[in-house]
Amino acid sequence: MPDSKTHVLNVFMNRQYPSIVRAEGIYLYDEDGKRYIDSAGGPILCNLGHGVGEIVDALVEQMREVAFVYRLDFTTPGLEEACTKVCEATGGVMDKVFMVSGGSEATEIAIKLARKYHIDNGNPSKYKVISRWLSYHGMTMGALSWSGMTARRAEYDPMLRDFSHIAPAYCYRCWFKRTPDSCDLECAQALENEILCQGPETVAAFIAEPVSGMSLCGAHPRMDYFRRVREICDRYDVLIILDEVMTGFGRTGKWFGFQQFDVIPDILALGKGMGGGYFPVGAAAVSARVADTIARKSGLFAAGFTWAGNPMAAAVVSRTIDYLKEHHLVERCAEKGDYLAKRLEDLKSHPTVGDIRGMGLMRGIEFVKDKRTKEPLEPGLMFWIQLSQEALSRGLFIEASGGCDRGRAGDMVMFGPPFIVTEEQIDEMVGIFDEVLTAVEKRAGF
Ligand SMILES: Cc1ncc(COP(=O)(O)O)c(C=O)c1O
Repeated sequence: MPDSKTHVLNVFMNRQYPSIVRAEGIYLYDEDGKRYIDSAGGPILCNLGHGVGEIVDALVEQMREVAFVYRLDFTTPGLEEACTKVCEATGGVMDKVFMVSGGSEATEIAIKLARKYHIDNGNPSKYKVISRWLSYHGMTMGALSWSGMTARRAEYDPMLRDFSHIAPAYCYRCWFKRTPDSCDLECAQALENEILCQGPETVAAFIAEPVSGMSLCGAHPRMDYFRRVREICDRYDVLIILDEVMTGFGRTGKWFGFQQFDVIPDILALGKGMGGGYFPVGAAAVSARVADTIARKSGLFAAGFTWAGNPMAAAVVSRTIDYLKEHHLVERCAEKGDYLAKRLEDLKSHPTVGDIRGMGLMRGIEFVKDKRTKEPLEPGLMFWIQLSQEALSRGLFIEASGGCDRGRAGDMVMFGPPFIVTEEQIDEMVGIFDEVLTAVEKRAGF
């Protein structure tokens, strides 16, 4: 029954939620003093760990100086500094940043910038966006239209725009029935076919996550996938938007996911860890080619949101970037990510562990009924929900998700702890998860 005391419209409206009153490092504490390990860093965003005083100080200082001015007529030193630091963090691949309040807004602005680029470049017929099935780019109607996460789309489907989706880069369940030996990057080639079918003169951009977030929990393509995508996009004047809302700012063990794949994108969508877990912030960043084309022609980008360019967000972004550098946290993410991957391998002896994948501190597990055939578990079991609930009861917060088998079935979890996590803490979280999995498998009859 619903908790009559709450006026919060919760996701699970009939569930009692633990109330968290304190957070420190990788730990959360509820009002009864129970401790939870935050093995997902919130929804994979608390990259610095909880309770970092310097970030709080930077925010408070900025609020005292200037809490808000409107970007239509003003800039602030903090916004200038943050956007410069973001571009520097990309190694100069990006030249201008439009700061917003989260990931969905970031992909919305990224798509609008792609459209604006083509208009100003003399190709106003280019407006279509191609994305991938089993991707996630946000919850607004636009972002959901180019998302391919079927469960999140389902109820709103009649209200979405008709954008086209190609096959995901999902090696464990390759849609082309290829193996590493027989793979010819058919999943990348599918993009060229789609561009041709849509009409290259109408296609503005391709959007993809370098490493999949919750829709495929850490699945990523072969290392040369994005180079092939780049060649195809260049052939038809289609911009590449990489959705680095989850992968950006160190999560894969490099500053950005595109650096893992040796590809130069045209536009980045950013969010989550950009604010370290301390402030709602996102951004669309564009290359000099895109920015200069717009600046030279119309000199105008009039899309936006009231809170865009928020000085408070900017202060947090600047300090987050400094903190990542000062504490070598991106390098640490790579190192501890390798350790986490090694420890997760120990779970392979479980009868349901089908695949372990990911990069850095973004590691997913996919569960199956039959390891040999990869037959998914019965969707009615709600295995992924059972896992997250059992984990919570044992003091482990973990992100879980379903639908990886074409939206029909499939159960996954993702580990994405703060980058400050120690090897002992990784041992502890994997140890608890081992027990969680044993309990849930037992209930499911394994
Ligand atoms: C890859 C990716 N893009 C976009 C989004 C949407 O971001 P937000 O929830 O901040 O709007 C998410 C959120 O999970 C994400 O993982």
